[in-house]
Amino acid sequence: MLRKLLTWTGIALGSVLILLLMFYAVAYFQTEARINKIYEVQLQALEIPDDSANYALGKHVAEIRGCTGCHGADLSGGRAFADPTSPIGTLYASNITHGIGGINYTDQDWLRVLRHGINKDFRSVWFMPSHEVYHISNKEMAALISYLRIQAPVDKEIPAKSLKPLGRVLTFLGEYPLLPAEMIDHNATYADDVPFMVNADYGKYLATTCQGCHSPTFKGAAAHGPNEPDIPDISSTGNLGKWDSKGFVSTFRTGKTPDGRVLSEFMPVKEFPYSDQELEAIYAYLHQQK
Ligand code: HEC
Ligand code: HEC
Repeated sequence: MLRKLLTWTGIALGSVLILLLMFYAVAYFQTEARINKIYEVQLQALEIPDDSANYALGKHVAEIRGCTGCHGADLSGGRAFADPTSPIGTLYASNITHGIGGINYTDQDWLRVLRHGINKDFRSVWFMPSHEVYHISNKEMAALISYLRIQAPVDKEIPAKSLKPLGRVLTFLGEYPLLPAEMIDHNATYADDVPFMVNADYGKYLATTCQGCHSPTFKGAAAHGPNEPDIPDISSTGNLGKWDSKGFVSTFRTGKTPDGRVLSEFMPVKEFPYSDQELEAIYAYLHQQK
């Protein structure tokens, strides 16, 4: 009797193990194919200026689109999104200067990564939010590249990236946005200029930068890591629905919400030097989100 029971338990456990191995094999080969996919895209012809007005605009775009937040004020990278202790894998922000350990990009390479999320190997970059910035106007894209390409070289080696089994399974299940090239319309056309206006349309243009963390619907998401707060709803159904535009602007200036809470470092208000009018536009858009 006992022997029979043990046999059946053994068969059951063995079957579960085989199913798990089969699942992982499928996840492994599917993600491996996606990671190694070679993208061929038609790059637009875009003239990159080199005057000081465009440099200043490019710097502002680099700041409000999060480039300096993730890659550092001197763009030398090194910030860990997954350090070697992470169960997801290893991933650091690249050194995007042309120093040792950095990159050596032509204007075409910049366009490929920023408009398409594709690196010099013609594969998708990992976790780098090109899908939140690829739509910016030709004027802003050209200014951004004019700023990026003349930054001083910084020597800093960045550890190689890798993906662990959990990172693979999450990518397989669509729970981890590893490959931005998959989230981009590679045949998109771009406006030459998106003139600045204090309205919800312009707010929408800017607020793509908030979606990676706050979710595409702005309704919030689970915390990013074990010691981080949940990501709150910033649509009209969240606290923001009760704030006026002044309160929203002052939250970004002071890091303190109108209801008196001090935001943690995980809402990097200081990394986003928006103008008051840009924040008012973002507010107008978020306030419309039901
Ligand atoms: C959320 C953080 C984050 C933001 C915001 C971000 N990046 Fe990145 N970026 C990364 C990570 C992580 C990598 C490493 C990707 C890889 O190795 O595949 C990367 C890689 C790069 C690369 C190197 C690609 C290569 O050849 O390996 C360039 C260039 C780059 N980013 C430019 C930018 C610019 C310009 C901006 C602003 C528009 C920006 N990034 C915004 C995280 C970010
Ligand atoms: C890197 C991830 C990240 C990005 C990018 C980000 N946020 Fe946040 N945000 C957070 C986190 C985490 C919190 C919660 C912070 C806390 O409670 O300490 C937060 C909180 C907030 C709050 C406070 C909401 C409340 O009810 O307390 C507002 C408002 C906000 N974010 C607006 C924005 C806007 C607007 C953008 C885009 C310009 C943005 N965030 C981009 C992570 C992010």
